[in-house]
Parts: sequence; structure tokens; C-alpha cells
Amino acid sequence: MILNFKNQIPFIEGVNLSNLTKTIETPFYIYSQNKIIDSFQKIQNTIKTNIYYALKANSNLAIISLMKSLGAGVDTVSIGEIMRSLEVGINPNKIIFEGVGKSKNDIEFALRNNIRQINIESIEELKLINELAHSLKISANIGIRFNPDIDALTLDKITTGRKKDKFGINLDKINEICLLIKNSKSINLKGISCHIGSQINDPNIYEKVFIKMKKASEIMEQQDLKINHLDLGGGFGVTYENEKEIDLKIISNLLDKIFENKYEISFEPGRYLVANAGVLITKILITKTNDEVNFLITDAGMQTLLRPALYNVRHKIIPFEDNAKKQKYTIAGPICESTDIFAKDFELPIQSSGNYLAICDTGAYGFVMASNYNSRNLPTELLINDNNYAVIRKKENISEIIKK
Ligand code: LLP
Repeated sequence: MILNFKNQIPFIEGVNLSNLTKTIETPFYIYSQNKIIDSFQKIQNTIKTNIYYALKANSNLAIISLMKSLGAGVDTVSIGEIMRSLEVGINPNKIIFEGVGKSKNDIEFALRNNIRQINIESIEELKLINELAHSLKISANIGIRFNPDIDALTLDKITTGRKKDKFGINLDKINEICLLIKNSKSINLKGISCHIGSQINDPNIYEKVFIKMKKASEIMEQQDLKINHLDLGGGFGVTYENEKEIDLKIISNLLDKIFENKYEISFEPGRYLVANAGVLITKILITKTNDEVNFLITDAGMQTLLRPALYNVRHKIIPFEDNAKKQKYTIAGPICESTDIFAKDFELPIQSSGNYLAICDTGAYGFVMASNYNSRNLPTELLINDNNYAVIRKKENISEIIKK
């Protein structure tokens, strides 16, 4: 937990959050640089792997820069994400480009920038890339994203590796794929990939994935397509409330056992690197009681943090103000939708309007999923490093958004 209290005052690293609320308008996101570095090093020290940070989790330029300084590559899913990576100076040969729906424009952009690999997700896409690369007189570096037909047993809405899901290429098409690659003159096969979902806490799921990926690479090798590189996706699960963080040591042992050091291995973690490093600070605007439900209405809402409304998940909420008396609250945002609720029946010390709450573990899929719904402005983002903080994105100006 990055938030800690000294003499009842909330701190992240050496920065006093109560003081921050006096100068920075809520709601705002804060990230702890040291926590991000810790999480990165935990992967690096436990697993022999390249790390391609999935920047969809948090694509603030300062965060991408930090990842770069740690030696990470990036996993991107749009021209915008590739441009963000180039903007902070990520070497193109450390950029992977994914996505189930890439336009011609997207593919051409990636080809012209000569990135490490484009992971293709359909036979049609493979043919298109071959044609585009041929017309540009270059060779396309590609990976094949397989769909291993494994249920990640995470939230249904973030499971991507079942046969019926839209992602990847079903393994029963592997022979067709091999033939196509061999007949495609402008394709340079760099490896195979998969990603079966996010917030996976059970390492046994990865075991099943690894076994299927090994089998896929062996089938391809039998057809004279040598596979050197396995990109095994993201998905490492973290603790929000009671979940157990994924055990990386078990993942490492599984890799050794199943792949026997025969392949270059890459992972694309997003959430693991940033989720627990962020909190969202919000102010209680109003307290009210309707039909015996005690509401705290906050200035952050589903436009600031969408996850609870979209997936029905809960983030821990910690008030700045303590009180010996406690009661159950429903904590809700200001948006005109009944789903705009962060938590129901959440026990907190008694609160009053004007108090502040920290919504925890919001460093991943927080700001990046925020919107201008109800014509509200996107919040500030801050990065804390020891006793200092930097504003890494200014709050959007309402007078700007109303012109569009
Ligand atoms: N690689 C690919 C191809 C992906 O689609 C994703 C995430 C990742 C890597 C990174 O996965 P991670 O390590 O973060 O689990 N908005 C949802 C999560 C959606 C994940 C989408 N893909 C949430 O808030 O829970």
C-alpha cells in the first residue's frame, strides 16, 4: 500500500497529501515512482524475460519515459500509442504492435517505422500486411497471435483467450497459417504470441497457456518455420482487496520446466507495473441519505474512474479523516447514471462534505479510461518521487472542451 499515515496525515512517499489538496483541485491521480520501479524490478529479478510495458494501462508520457529508463520496451495497440512511445524516444526495435482491428493506415505506419514486430490476429490481416509490405518494398516483421482456447478465469469482460473470443487466431488454423507464411514473400516471421486476459491470479492458468504455445511452436517447426521468440502477453494479477498477487516465482519455474531455455521470452505486463502505484484523490461534495442508504457523493465519478461502473469491481477506499464512529456508505460520483457508484455498503469512519477520500490501486486502467462524459474535464496526474512531485498532466480546461 503506497498510502500511509504519519500522525493521522496521509502521505505517499515523502509527500503530504493533505497539503496537496490545498493547491491541486480534486479529483486527481497520483502515482508513486518508487512503487513502479519496485514492481518492474520484481519481474526482472524473478523471470528471465523481456518486458514490453502494455502502455494501454497508463500511457502518460512520464510513465512511458520511466519504463524506458528501466529498460522496458512497449506493447502498443494504436498509432497514438506508437507515437507516444516514439515521442519519449523508445527505440522502434523495442515496440510491439497488437490489436484485433488494424487499418491499412495503422499497418503502414508501423511498417514505415520499422518496429520490432506486428502481432497479427487473422488470416486476412496476414495477407494485407504481406501486400502492403510488398508495395513498400520492405519485409514485415510479424508475430502470430494465437488464441489458445483457455479461459483465464478472470472477469468475463477481460477474458480474451477462449476460442469464441474475437482475439487471436484459433490453433486449428495453424497449418493454413504456416502455408501462407511460406508463400508470402514480404513476411519476416519473428515469433508467436498470445494474451488470454487480464488480472490473472492463478499461475496454473499460465501453465496451460505455455503448454499450448510450446505445441504450436513445435508444429510450426515441423513445417520449417523456426520459432525463436515467444511473446506470452500480459495479465499478471495484482491485489485490489483480497486477491492474491500472481506468484512470479511459479511462473518462472513453469517457464524453465516447459520451455527449457530454448526460446527468447517476452511478457507484456500493464496492470502489474502500475495498478498498485496509483491512487485517485477525490473530495466529498455532498452527504445525503435516501431510503436509509447513506450516500457520499464525490467529485470523481465514472468519468474519472470507469472500472467499478463497467466491471462491477471494487477498489479500496481510504478516507483522510478518521473517526471512532463508523457507518456503511454508498460512495457515488456526480454523473447522471445509477451505475456511477464506486462502492456499496462500504464501512468508513463517519464522513462529512469537504473531506477527502483516496481510491486505491488506480494506477492501471484509471486515467486512460477517463472521459469527458457530462462535459466534465479530465483530471490532473501527478508523479511522486521521494519528497517531490511533478504535475505530469494538467487538468483539462473546461473552456477548451466545450469548444469541440
Ligand atoms: N497484451 C495485450 C495484447 C493486451 O490486450 C493487454 C490488455 C495486455 C497485454 C496487458 O494486460 P495486463 O498486464 O494489464 O493485464 N480495462 C481492463 C483491462 C483490459 C486489458 C486489455 N488488454 C481493466 O480495467 O481491468
